[in-house]
Amino acid sequence: MNENNTTVLLGLQWGDEGKGKKVDELAAQADIVIRFQGGSNAGHTIYNRNKKFVVHLVPSGLFHLRAQCYIGPEVVCNPLTLVEEVRQISTAVPDIFDRLKISVRTPLILPYHIEIDRCREIYKGKEKIGTTGRGIGPAYEDLAGRVSIRVIDLFNIPKLREKIGFNLFEKNAIIQAFGGTPITPDEIVNQWQKAGVFDLLPKLAMREMPSAINEAIDAGKRVLFEGAQGTLLDVTLGTSPFVTSSHTVAGAICTSFGIAPWKLQDIRGVIKAYTTRVGSGPFPTELFNEKGQQIQRNGGEFGATTGRPRRCGWLDLPAVRYAIQASGATQIIIMKADVLCGFDEVKINNSYTFEDSIISHLPIESIADVIANNDIVLPGWNNCRDDKNLALFISRIQENIPVPISGISIGPNREDYIALR
Ligand code: GDP
Ligand code: IMO
Ligand code: MG
Repeated sequence: MNENNTTVLLGLQWGDEGKGKKVDELAAQADIVIRFQGGSNAGHTIYNRNKKFVVHLVPSGLFHLRAQCYIGPEVVCNPLTLVEEVRQISTAVPDIFDRLKISVRTPLILPYHIEIDRCREIYKGKEKIGTTGRGIGPAYEDLAGRVSIRVIDLFNIPKLREKIGFNLFEKNAIIQAFGGTPITPDEIVNQWQKAGVFDLLPKLAMREMPSAINEAIDAGKRVLFEGAQGTLLDVTLGTSPFVTSSHTVAGAICTSFGIAPWKLQDIRGVIKAYTTRVGSGPFPTELFNEKGQQIQRNGGEFGATTGRPRRCGWLDLPAVRYAIQASGATQIIIMKADVLCGFDEVKINNSYTFEDSIISHLPIESIADVIANNDIVLPGWNNCRDDKNLALFISRIQENIPVPISGISIGPNREDYIALR
């Protein structure tokens, strides 16, 4: 943590960079760990006492038995997922009910969001985004459309039923246009009742979360913000339309909680030693050969949320430089360097061919038209702890990015880490 007491941890690629592992480590020194965007599209993997946990909604900081963990008002929360996740984790984290809080304003994901997400993807056919099918896009539409059902609505069930009924007038028309089956308010309320949503969420609900966080920062408490997804999936700054529906950069913290930008000075960006992407969309360094399959196998590159195989390719430095600029990252952590262990040769992309020229920046709106030159070719390494070829790989990255590399992760466990600063 820095003198300013706040630390932000963000993914700088297309998600799954290893944020969960890094947040778990940083949470040891945090008083509060906060999820500020996204929803259960995220899948963050943590190893706690050799047991693997994948969390979708709760902050990865919960596994350190100290930090308060908050879910903010711009996270979209499926209450059924939250109930399930809390149940699963409560054996490892018995005081979860004392340490986990969700803002009363947090918008909920309802079955109609999931149904619309699913129908739209089918309708788009070949053009589909490849969403996680968790209803994320439609839930954010409702936030902007000012019709979200929020945590606070769970306190008054008759009124809740009425609000859901009001929304269903429009949602069912959409669902039926796609040939789906209409939903009734009772179905939703009964399902939530059965699952224990009305018992659990009101217990976790917190009022005035933004003021509480600002006061904690001002009082010198150490606050860690846990990003989900990655810069290239940001709804505005990413590779639109193949993006998620939230802002994934540090600025989202300011708008979610009314935290002044100058209170966020320690912004740590996480990248993998290579690149992966789940779902559709342009990916300049994607490998369609045995090397790509080797990365996928060695790295276990299968989605933590949907189990889909992740597309794999070389590290793309112009994309990383773009993400550093867009996210405001002040340092970089390189994850999964061990995955490239045993390769005879490793490549890094440092420029593109675009409209017959060589360029060293990512033209984000034209990303589908660039060709990666994969112009840094290095010998591979066989030992992650002490190998001059891994050191060379890291130094070539460092020469080509404007902020320091502060550490390298060389395995999924907490101790598999080399600090550089
Ligand atoms: P996140 O979404 O950014 O939290 O990342 P995911 O959890 O979806 O995917 C990262 C995967 O890589 C998880 O299975 C982690 O356990 C694993 N992992 C994290 N760091 C390392 C590392 O340095 N080496 C290896 N081999 N695996 C890692
Ligand atoms: P974490 O936090 C990787 C991708 C989906 C799809 C696009 C839109 O684990 O890094 P959505 O369901 O959000 O509407 O899908 O975004 N996507 C992710 N890819 N990691 C994630 O989260 C992702 N969350 C969404 O695959 O391409
Ligand atoms: Mg993930």
